[in-house]
Amino acid sequence: MKGIVLAGGTATRLFPLTIVTNKHLLPIYDRPMIYYPIETLAGMGIREVLVIVGGKSVGDVVELLADGSHFGLDLTYRYQHGALGIAHAIGLARDFVGDDAFCCVLGDNILRGPALAPVAEEFEAGPWGAGTLLYRVSDPERFGVAELDGAGNVVAFEEKPVRPKSDLIPIGVYFLRPDAFTVIDSLAPSGRGEFEITDVLNHYVPEGRLFHRIYDGHWTDAGTVPSLIRAAELARDDDRAGRLARPVERPVG
Ligand code: G1P
Repeated sequence: MKGIVLAGGTATRLFPLTIVTNKHLLPIYDRPMIYYPIETLAGMGIREVLVIVGGKSVGDVVELLADGSHFGLDLTYRYQHGALGIAHAIGLARDFVGDDAFCCVLGDNILRGPALAPVAEEFEAGPWGAGTLLYRVSDPERFGVAELDGAGNVVAFEEKPVRPKSDLIPIGVYFLRPDAFTVIDSLAPSGRGEFEITDVLNHYVPEGRLFHRIYDGHWTDAGTVPSLIRAAELARDDDRAGRLARPVERPVG
């Protein structure tokens, strides 16, 4: 399986923190934000990762992560022009992905919990076309929201609904296969002018090919000031419990 980290966007919700720098470089406790999604993919046993960059300080992102060998990864990069959404960014990974299944992690998603290698293996070995992890939050209207039937099956996802149908949201970890690019090609932009990942996931629901698991750890995004603080608290709690390894450092030079 291959990996993708999305590190573009304009991060207006964090202004003025992100007027002159890339959100994914902001510190979360003892390391830059983008270390967390990189470590999430490494924890799945994935080695080949594409980082999709855009917005501010793109060169700094590349300088920080370099070839990825200090993470035990093989990194490559693509540039996303404009902030056209998650599905658009994933569409830029077509050549990189080739015929492989892949996992895309949003660059501002902080997961602290068990490694996800078994989940990635289950998706790859199974019949599913797409998959995600669900997490219970108190403010689902800020996210994509899952609607479930009585048996616990996902019926649909709705992006930032005014009246959420549950408090379970798809977090920014998406398992996909190359046929997702055909789905992405068929999408129209949403009301906010973005190509939405929830529309990609919805495509697989009627076919019964959507995979989901409840994420059994702690999660937050870090795209707003309160969530940025929450992200640092998650890392600090793990550090106090002896569960946070020291951040790796790129050899200087
Ligand atoms: C994005 C997705 C949303 C998902 C969230 C997770 O929202 O569109 O479905 O629940 O990431 O972080 P964003 O916060 O980028 O608007």
